Amino acid sequence: MIILVGGEKGGSGKSCLAQNIAVFLTREAQASVIMVDCDPQRTTSDWIQARNNNPDLPTINCVQLYGKIRNDLLSLEQHYDYVIVDCGGQDNLALRASMSVASHVLMPLRPKRRDLKTVSHMDDIVATCLMINPKMKASFVITQCPSLPNQANRITEAKDVCRTYDINVLEAVNYSRNIYDDSEESGLSVFELEPKGKATEEMRSIACELLEISDAKQLIEQRNKVSNVTTLRGHYGTSRSQEKRFVM
Ligand SMILES: Nc1ncnc2c1ncn2[C@@H]1O[C@H](COP(=O)(O)OP(=O)(O)OP(=O)(O)O)[C@@H](O)[C@H]1O
Ligand SMILES: [Mg+2]
Repeated sequence: MIILVGGEKGGSGKSCLAQNIAVFLTREAQASVIMVDCDPQRTTSDWIQARNNNPDLPTINCVQLYGKIRNDLLSLEQHYDYVIVDCGGQDNLALRASMSVASHVLMPLRPKRRDLKTVSHMDDIVATCLMINPKMKASFVITQCPSLPNQANRITEAKDVCRTYDINVLEAVNYSRNIYDDSEESGLSVFELEPKGKATEEMRSIACELLEISDAKQLIEQRNKVSNVTTLRGHYGTSRSQEKRFVM
């Protein structure tokens, strides 16, 4: 499965979301994950490098890819349960190429006017890509929300702006919390820095709502079902995907 975290707005939390979703899938859904960093700033590659220097953390692979990456993503998908693409904050070839093959697209926006002004353009890009990838599920998510109760209307209004377009908006949001910045520094995620914390809970909710599951166990069960079917098929001949796994 290919999951793209993208969007036009810089600093809205794309890399942070991509990294935390990668850890959620690795730790809680025991999945094999590769991250694809399409941003020349190398935010995710640097995070992975810091992470993989720490032997106590489960390793996550990462590659940097730019431009027409459609075929590269399809080929990575053969070898990993999840390919998580972190696109930089601009409309570029890699973003559109990823949208042409992704099953899920997550577009973070802060509840701020300048972020919300990009919704219309993102809606255009999504509509174009849906013509060649009609199964793609695109969602906005509101990030870095203010936690003061008297500012809650900003979150509701941001969701309302998104809802005027045809794209889904996640109910789950994340709040502005220092733990996101603190965890990134050493290649960690909020899941590892504060497993029972509020940030972990909100990241888990975002991942589950995006993937339309109630918890990570459901993903493990789904994968087990698929592998049982493959075992049955094995009695009658080798499936194409198995052939590819052998070639690896
Ligand atoms: N919910 C949050 N609360 C507080 N800080 C956050 C939150 N999410 C992200 N940040 C911080 O905001 C900064 C930008 O986040 P991030 O790098 O994920 O954004 P981005 O959309 O990937 O940016 P770019 O467009 O440059 O790639 C980082 O310092 C990150 O730690
Ligand atoms: Mg980034």
